[in-house]
Amino acid sequence: MKLILLGAPGAGKGTQAEVICERFNIPTISTGNIIREALKSGTEMGIRAKSFVDAGKLVPDEVVIGIIQERLAKDDCSNGFVLDGFPRTIPQAEALDKMGIAIDKVIDIEVPDEVIVERMSGRRVCESCGASYHLVYNKPDVDGVCSKCGGTLVQRKDDHPDTVKERLKVYHDQTEPLKGYYSKQGKLYVVEGHEDVASTTKRVLAAIEA
Ligand code: AP5
Ligand code: MG
Repeated sequence: MKLILLGAPGAGKGTQAEVICERFNIPTISTGNIIREALKSGTEMGIRAKSFVDAGKLVPDEVVIGIIQERLAKDDCSNGFVLDGFPRTIPQAEALDKMGIAIDKVIDIEVPDEVIVERMSGRRVCESCGASYHLVYNKPDVDGVCSKCGGTLVQRKDDHPDTVKERLKVYHDQTEPLKGYYSKQGKLYVVEGHEDVASTTKRVLAAIEA
């Protein structure tokens, strides 16, 4: 099964990807996580991406397309995968089609902008393993400590309110047109994502199994 999770920043793509990955035993491929790893380890790609990520802008298409092409060629993708955060632009979607990858479904998680701003301000991520929490909706067992690996929880630099606003603008301008792109291909499934995680998961799984 080859799935794409579409949605605004903070819509809950990463959260739902984790559930899908366990349930169907397929890997999650998150371009955001791959880029953050590269930033942390200071690779050439990381250095190139930093100014874009910090400003809430998209990293250039050719960089991200290269990352995906390399990642999808790995053995663990042979039974399918969940793409979280890719594609983000029409040229990225076209590149995926040109790679000959037949996506089964695109699940679009819809959350109003006001809800997103509130969610992002409460998100905390583990600086070691990248696991994501929320100060109100998804608390770690011990404040400030990752329940999975014991790492320290920090706020993502691009989760500060001004950057979130920029990310939302970029989403509406450059990513939202993908809804039309995949709707024309008959692959788009729209799911309401403004309720709690469990309710959203039910809707996402129903869409996958529809
Ligand atoms: P990326 O990491 O992909 O960021 P994003 O799309 O902006 O999405 P987020 O990770 O912020 O949100 P999410 O939908 O995964 O939400 P989450 O589940 O964490 O990309 C970062 C940057 O990298 C980009 O800005 C760009 O610069 C670059 N980049 C990445 N991919 C790129 C590409 N393809 N092309 C170009 N550039 C690219 O949930 C958010 C919070 O809400 C969490 O705290 C969570 O616990 C909580 N939460 C989740 N669901 C619920 C719920 N139902 N109720 C209450 N709280 C909830
Ligand atoms: Mg994410």
